[in-house]
Amino acid sequence: MKKTAVCIVGLGYVGLPLALLCAQKGFDVRGLDPDRKKIKLISRGKSPIKDRELEKKLKKLGKKISISSNAKQALEGCDIIVVCVPTPAKGNKPDLGPLKKACKAIAENIPKEKKPLVIIESTVYPGTVRHVVKPIIEGKKLEAGKDFFLAHCPERIDPGSRKWPIQRIPRVFSAFSAKGRKRGLAFYKRILKAKVICLSNLEEAEAVKVVENTFRDINIAFVNELAKSFEKMGIDLSEVLRGAGTKPFGFMPFYPGPGVGGHCISQDPYYLIARAQESGFTHRFLQLAREINNSMPLHVVSLISKALKSAGIRPERAKVVVLGLSYKPNVDDPRESPAIKVIELLKRKGVKPVAFDPFLLRMSNAKSLAKAVKNADCIVIATHHPQFIKKLTPAFLKRNRVRAVIDARNVLDKEGIIKKEILYFGIGR
Ligand SMILES: NC(=O)c1ccc[n+]([C@@H]2O[C@H](COP(=O)([O-])OP(=O)(O)OC[C@H]3O[C@@H](n4cnc5c(N)ncnc54)[C@H](O)[C@@H]3O)[C@@H](O)[C@H]2O)c1
Repeated sequence: MKKTAVCIVGLGYVGLPLALLCAQKGFDVRGLDPDRKKIKLISRGKSPIKDRELEKKLKKLGKKISISSNAKQALEGCDIIVVCVPTPAKGNKPDLGPLKKACKAIAENIPKEKKPLVIIESTVYPGTVRHVVKPIIEGKKLEAGKDFFLAHCPERIDPGSRKWPIQRIPRVFSAFSAKGRKRGLAFYKRILKAKVICLSNLEEAEAVKVVENTFRDINIAFVNELAKSFEKMGIDLSEVLRGAGTKPFGFMPFYPGPGVGGHCISQDPYYLIARAQESGFTHRFLQLAREINNSMPLHVVSLISKALKSAGIRPERAKVVVLGLSYKPNVDDPRESPAIKVIELLKRKGVKPVAFDPFLLRMSNAKSLAKAVKNADCIVIATHHPQFIKKLTPAFLKRNRVRAVIDARNVLDKEGIIKKEILYFGIGR
């Protein structure tokens, strides 16, 4: 029997793991991506993403995926097309450019004889699939629900997480027509070990994803604001959260930090804000959360200035070291990372920061953690990679003559560091 052919459009943090999962489940998998460098790497069984699990899977299953930057070739004979292209925000406004381009390529090369199911997994604002995607693919010749089928199943992948592989994350789903719904549910049933919750329309499924990420953004903004306030009052927010976190209901701890990064949480609220604005509603609360989180890199820089001043060191002469460049631990993704913003702000102040991230050596200007930290006037923990937490003990910092620590993730031994007579500043700590 001929295998069901699936084409994954966009082979990034979302698309590549999905392509490998589909290959593992026995589909005939193709991939479409304009990034030729990426295509070359994947074709050689090499992962463009630094992730051990992904690297292992690619070695094993890579040969089963046929990828191309040629849409005609990639889409030929496909039964299912899954779109995983980026949906960034440009100037704090949704940028549907890559999605529209992908839909155009699908429209021009659609395998009509297959009446394919097109699933959008990219995060979008409510109404995008019906009012942006559908008309582009339909053009003047095709009709959704008849010539092709359309569904939305927002991806919830947590890159770098071992606890939540994609197969085990429950998903929400909705489709344009009954047949699209039936085919889509059958597809996810075959690849996932988790529940797929069907919602009554596309807009609800689209809204779920932006609401989930906005929820995180707002809660992080809340603790970031508390951090600034508690710093003034001299209350340790880490301890407060440790206490409040013991309440078994009605409280869920979120943690302050140098800001919110990544392609999702720092971007998706703008999608909801813009869509609501179009309908005549202004999301003040969401906008404020974005502002607070966007203000955190500057707050970190003000702590660095405070530390250098206390140590009597002029910023232009200081060795300031930013540790961690990715937006979260265990990943190599620097998109919207607050660490990058801290570096930009430092440069504007005349500081020439040293940067080190073991996941992003191409963006680091130190070769190792030890070399970065040696004789540093101030180190900043911008991303809490586990190896930083393990290595950066008070004794290690003292041995390397570090003078001040800005623990922007509140993960180091505050008391131990202070005992070694090293200046310590946490976020709200
Ligand atoms: N990264 C995450 O943790 C995550 C989690 C859940 C959902 N999402 C959502 O999934 C979507 C993809 O995110 P990502 O992190 O995988 O992005 P990514 O940038 O890692 O990957 C996207 C890929 O799409 C390719 N691409 C760009 N334009 C294209 C086009 N016109 N046709 C085909 N390919 C194209 C890019 O070259 C890239 O390889 C976004 O909507 C994002 O919000 C991301």
